[in-house]
Amino acid sequence: MKRLILTLAIVLSVVTLNAKTLIVYYSFSNNIHTIVSELNSQIEADLLRIAPAEKGLDYAANNYAIGSALINNIRQNPNNASSYPAIDPVDIRLSDYDMIIIAAPLWWNNMAAPLQTFLFSHGSQMAGKNIGVIVSSASSGISGVVQDAKRLIPDGNFIEPNLRIRSSEVSRCRTMLSEWLDNINYASVSTSANAEYIDKEIFIVSLPGIIMVNGCFKTFSLYNESGYKLLETSEKSVNTSDFVPGIYIAHINKGDRYVAEKLHIK
Ligand SMILES: Cc1cc2nc3c(=O)[nH]c(=O)nc-3n(C[C@H](O)[C@H](O)[C@H](O)COP(=O)(O)O)c2cc1C
Repeated sequence: MKRLILTLAIVLSVVTLNAKTLIVYYSFSNNIHTIVSELNSQIEADLLRIAPAEKGLDYAANNYAIGSALINNIRQNPNNASSYPAIDPVDIRLSDYDMIIIAAPLWWNNMAAPLQTFLFSHGSQMAGKNIGVIVSSASSGISGVVQDAKRLIPDGNFIEPNLRIRSSEVSRCRTMLSEWLDNINYASVSTSANAEYIDKEIFIVSLPGIIMVNGCFKTFSLYNESGYKLLETSEKSVNTSDFVPGIYIAHINKGDRYVAEKLHIK
């Protein structure tokens, strides 16, 4: 048992070092930029700032006319790529990340249009990843922005609660961010390993591309959620790089009995 705990501790500490977070954001008047900079002083993360292809637009001019037109285009035809404003090319490998934090300004109860463009083209690559949402608005509630995020990242694993920071609160965002990181249990959700104790003698660690089964067992089998058996092995490590990320069921034959547990494959 002691050996088991020691192995788990070593695996998790190595994995925690390798776990990666991406903060992807757009900011017009720099409130979100200030918030993200503060967040990045509290957690280690890569930053990706989305920039509209068309430069120098004042989205707030004439009672927010340009921003309003962009949002209306998306509302009218959200499934069509041409409804979304062009953004500068983005060079990012989302498979490198375990957690992605989306930080967005609210425009007319929706997510600011340029960030929607990025998620429209990249959201499907975020399947199975932990997603945190931070929104800044002047005063409006943020549920419309969260709905946009869920529409654009249909298979994301959204971590609640979301965080709203009003424009008037940006100067004190440090405390709000550190409380939010505690609330979502950031230390655990940002770790790429899912260590599942099957029972006191066996645990499974799921890492991107590999599952490790520790302890004594006869066979390890993996089923999809429809109950279809995908593999059976007596090996202690299983290559999962060909699997679609998501939830599977692990069955362990311990000789005298079977045990089963849901498993998140990365
Ligand atoms: C086009 C546009 C529309 C906006 N619509 C709203 C709104 O409906 N409700 C609201 O409370 N704030 C609204 N805002 C204000 C922003 O959400 C708020 O100032 C936010 O902090 C801006 O973040 P940023 O400085 O990172 O761009 C809007 C701002 C713009 C530019």
